[in-house]
Amino acid sequence: MTIYSKIVGTGSYLPAKRVTNNELAAQLAQQGIETSDEWIVTRSGISARHYAEPTQLSSDLALAAAQRALEAAGMQANDIDLIILATSTPDHLGGFPSTACVVQHKLGITNGSPAMDVQAVCSGFVYAMSVADSFIKSGAHKNVLVIGTEVFSRILDFKDRTTCVLFGDGAGAVVMSASGELGVLASKLHADGSHGHILCVPGSVDNGAVAGSAYLYMDGPAVFKLAVSVLDKVARETLAAAKVDASEIDWLIPHQANIRIMQGTAKKLGLPLEKMVVTVGEHGNTSAASIPLALDQAVRDGRIKPGHTVMMEGVGGGFTWGAVLARM
Ligand SMILES: CC(C)(COP(=O)(O)OP(=O)(O)OC[C@H]1O[C@@H](n2cnc3c(N)ncnc32)[C@H](O)[C@@H]1OP(=O)(O)O)[C@@H](O)C(=O)NCCC(=O)NCCS
Repeated sequence: MTIYSKIVGTGSYLPAKRVTNNELAAQLAQQGIETSDEWIVTRSGISARHYAEPTQLSSDLALAAAQRALEAAGMQANDIDLIILATSTPDHLGGFPSTACVVQHKLGITNGSPAMDVQAVCSGFVYAMSVADSFIKSGAHKNVLVIGTEVFSRILDFKDRTTCVLFGDGAGAVVMSASGELGVLASKLHADGSHGHILCVPGSVDNGAVAGSAYLYMDGPAVFKLAVSVLDKVARETLAAAKVDASEIDWLIPHQANIRIMQGTAKKLGLPLEKMVVTVGEHGNTSAASIPLALDQAVRDGRIKPGHTVMMEGVGGGFTWGAVLARM
């Protein structure tokens, strides 16, 4: 029997603190930095974002999302035999112990199964899903918890209006299980390290202290151009691998970075905008968490139904990009 990997439960979590553009603009104005709701909405489609409390770590957001995904899948934590967690804002400097291991412990998983982080910035969730799909199809693992979680507010420079208005915090998770039914139809991943400098956190750690900037840096217009060109290509490549026509896509879930990039992608694929799940307005860019947050929202509000074909695609720092086409 062919083994497929199927999404059997979704969950997500947004921190309670919601900050609107007007609230953020008022906060920035106190430091002499000018922005407006009008600029942010027109350029990005973002109206609000959520910020974690100082006490909340990536693993705390991930834990809440994971618990909801497990509940939706009707599973106990110890049914999970692999955790793959995507984040660029891990709990610990240096990334260890991995946030996946922290979440494993917080979930009370004691079965000794592996847990690891995947780092592909805003493409992190599609990278993690693709890795999970391969592990499941190989027969090595049966129930994989895939998480995207971020506290990007921690690496935002609130003196840099070109970046700080765009990002937010949150987490999303799915349980992917071995199944005889169609699940992931195809996935494609890419990277091009030569563009690393256009979206990065430039600093490093030296002699126990941060050397250089620990804030996110982005050349917005350069990222915009690259994102538009790769998202269409990778979606088509994934459709071709699955032998599925673009017209058969029920839902497009692009990484929620900028409404203009998302609309451009839908248009290039010939998809009506009603087939795209859009959460960027309320969430901002939550990097690795954005796709599973949007997926969970559309599953829970009844738009995405069993049997639907969903195209998820991400693009981000590295530079990285990829897509996963899945039958729900
Ligand atoms: C960041 C982004 C919204 C900027 O939009 P843009 O149309 O390219 O705008 P520009 O960077 O050319 O800036 C236009 C002007 O707005 C100003 N500006 C920048 N941020 C501003 C803000 N928050 N409020 C008001 N004005 C702002 C700039 O200083 C510039 O002013 P100038 O013309 O006087 O120099 C856009 O480039 C973008 O979305 N890029 C991709 C970002 C992304 O998706 N990142 C994540 C990928 S994973």
